[in-house]
Amino acid sequence: MKRLIVFYSYSNNTRGIAKEIQDKYNYDCVEIKTKEAYSEDYNLVLQSEEKLVPMDYQPDIEDINIDLNLYDEIILCTPVWWYSVASPVNTFLHTYILKDKTIIPVATNGGWLGRTFENIEKLTGCKIKNSISLKFDENRLVSTYEFEDWLNNLEESD
Ligand SMILES: Cc1cc2nc3c(=O)[nH]c(=O)nc-3n(C[C@H](O)[C@H](O)[C@H](O)COP(=O)(O)O)c2cc1C
Repeated sequence: MKRLIVFYSYSNNTRGIAKEIQDKYNYDCVEIKTKEAYSEDYNLVLQSEEKLVPMDYQPDIEDINIDLNLYDEIILCTPVWWYSVASPVNTFLHTYILKDKTIIPVATNGGWLGRTFENIEKLTGCKIKNSISLKFDENRLVSTYEFEDWLNNLEESD
């Protein structure tokens, strides 16, 4: 059973979480990168994505350059964007065939998860397990205890 971390991060919350998972278990890790960089203006991105996310927007992403056939499980770390996965993660889920894999979704957010997990399941047809919603207050994880607990039990999950 081999696991891969796949993450996207715009303002670094999800990057930190992906790094903590990797530091603990040494899983292979790959970052989803857009071909065109997003604006550094947070509010601009917030506003434009409000219209784009419901339209199933899929920005171009770089090739992830990894053989997904080598992995049974994907720990998918995404920020929540307008109650779903971040648009670059939406592209990833549409681009790569994941259907025989299990996905462990990790969604960082400001408290409004929406249909993020349901959408991942619907889009991929994958088995979903051990999902975790991590609320951030700006760039501070609200419940570090909950995350540590989840992290410590990650290898035991079936
Ligand atoms: C475009 C955009 C849309 C967002 N939509 C939501 C949302 O629907 N619900 C929520 O709780 N937080 C939302 N947020 C806040 C982020 O999910 C949260 O800050 C997350 O931890 C950011 O992860 P990152 O730093 O890895 O990019 C949104 C942020 C952005 C930039």
